[in-house]
Amino acid sequence: MAPQIKYTKLFIDNQWVDAVSGKTFETYNPHDGSVIARVAEGDEADINLAVAAAKRAFHRNSEWRLLDASQRGYILYKFADLVERDFDYLAELESYNNGMVVSLSKGFNRYGIDYIRYLASLADKVQGDTIPLNGDVFSYTLKQPVGVCGLILPWNGPIMMFIHKVVTALAAGCTVVVKPAEQTPLTALALAALLQEAGAPAGVVNVVNGFGVGAGTTLTHHPDVAKISFTGSLEVGKLIQQAAGANNLKRVTLELGGKSPLVIMDDADLNTAIAVAANSIFAHQGQICVAASRLFVQSGIYDKFVQGCVAFAKNRVVGDPSDPSTEQGPQIDEEMMKKILGYIEKGKKEGAKLMTGGKRIGNSGFYIEPTVFANVTDDMTIAKEEIFGPVQSIIKFDKLEEVIDRANATNYGLAAGIFTNNLNNALQYTKHIEAGNVWVNTYLLSGPQGPFGGFKDSGLGRENGINALDAYLEVKTVAISLPKKF
Ligand code: NAI
Ligand code: MG
Repeated sequence: MAPQIKYTKLFIDNQWVDAVSGKTFETYNPHDGSVIARVAEGDEADINLAVAAAKRAFHRNSEWRLLDASQRGYILYKFADLVERDFDYLAELESYNNGMVVSLSKGFNRYGIDYIRYLASLADKVQGDTIPLNGDVFSYTLKQPVGVCGLILPWNGPIMMFIHKVVTALAAGCTVVVKPAEQTPLTALALAALLQEAGAPAGVVNVVNGFGVGAGTTLTHHPDVAKISFTGSLEVGKLIQQAAGANNLKRVTLELGGKSPLVIMDDADLNTAIAVAANSIFAHQGQICVAASRLFVQSGIYDKFVQGCVAFAKNRVVGDPSDPSTEQGPQIDEEMMKKILGYIEKGKKEGAKLMTGGKRIGNSGFYIEPTVFANVTDDMTIAKEEIFGPVQSIIKFDKLEEVIDRANATNYGLAAGIFTNNLNNALQYTKHIEAGNVWVNTYLLSGPQGPFGGFKDSGLGRENGINALDAYLEVKTVAISLPKKF
């Protein structure tokens, strides 16, 4: 049964409102392409209203910024409890609007709840220093929230991304305007309702659905927005970086995907490595920023490893994402499906060997067969560009020194992995690889406690971890002159 859709309007100043223009847009179920709701389409006027509400909520007498920090934490703990209460509903709604298999949306919800509680526990631990300035001076630092934050979300993990960005900003005492991805507007609205229920004062959280050009660009250029946090494409990340300097100097956090290398050495536990390599590219239909989209396998085990990967891909259960036994659902939309099929054609044309998959499944919804390419070389398009689909590219290498250089020969630097039982190999790799997250004998393993972000074009700044709040804080150094004689 389809989950109930409770909210389709914009959420501004703790009110559900229509767009000023009265416009709406359709949102779809990627399983069959059917329209599931019409959602208010925010634009410049609505972003302006939301930013004004967030600015009022951040004012001098702010009920949020000046709230006892522990109380801010308690509201976030309450939010975590409410996400837990609505756990199944939120997971089903995410799956319905995104095509994410329900087992994965439940896993992300679990992670999201852990994340909220971790950040809630940090809310009252923002402390400054006392500074040993010379003379009769008392000097100290204050860490204060940066202001109104514009949070621009991608469609690939709508609940998780909302939680990451909103909860971190709120724990720091900021107020926010959220612009969800146009493909997945529904769960952000459900979460905003839960934040209101948890006690977030009016204007602290605002959600304006709409498109990148319009709602998104108004937010990135708005002079009253102090900070933008964005996850999405490199192309838009660069535009945001430029916009951040246009009217005021915005702080920027960017997470922009990757072309992450996973290296398999011939001394690795092959059965584990094959299973992990498959999950690392096929999980969520390949629509994961850290997807292991360049699989480097050492020459001695190459052919055997490819056979193992092919068997894994062939056994993968593809189908309706709401079925708990499904492993792979549809791609997010027709545009992404066509883009991925285009990459597969390029792979074939440029000489990669298609071992299995490669085609669309049926003609309803946006399904693609789990696809494996062997004999991929570094210069091929499928080895260079982020595909964001269920396409495993297997590349051969001989030596560790060689593969480190080849793995680093990309503008991206989000994640990397290695399977080896040799400690020296593992340590050399983790030391020299250019990536924000490196995994040894595992992949995709992360938690709220670990900093997350990219080297090079994969991003700017870090999310998560004990210092997560720093991205939403300004440091103020105060010096007070004391009377000379006492
Ligand atoms: P995108 O970067 O265009 O969209 C992400 C968000 O940015 C959406 O909310 C969108 O409305 C907004 N946006 C778009 N243009 C904007 C602008 N000029 N100013 C402000 N906001 C803007 O990503 P898209 O088109 O959905 O996917 C394209 C590619 O990006 C994918 O094929 C994939 O390679 C990559 N991607 C990476 C993600 C990651 O997790 N790092 C997530 C989603 C996509
Ligand atoms: Mg785009």
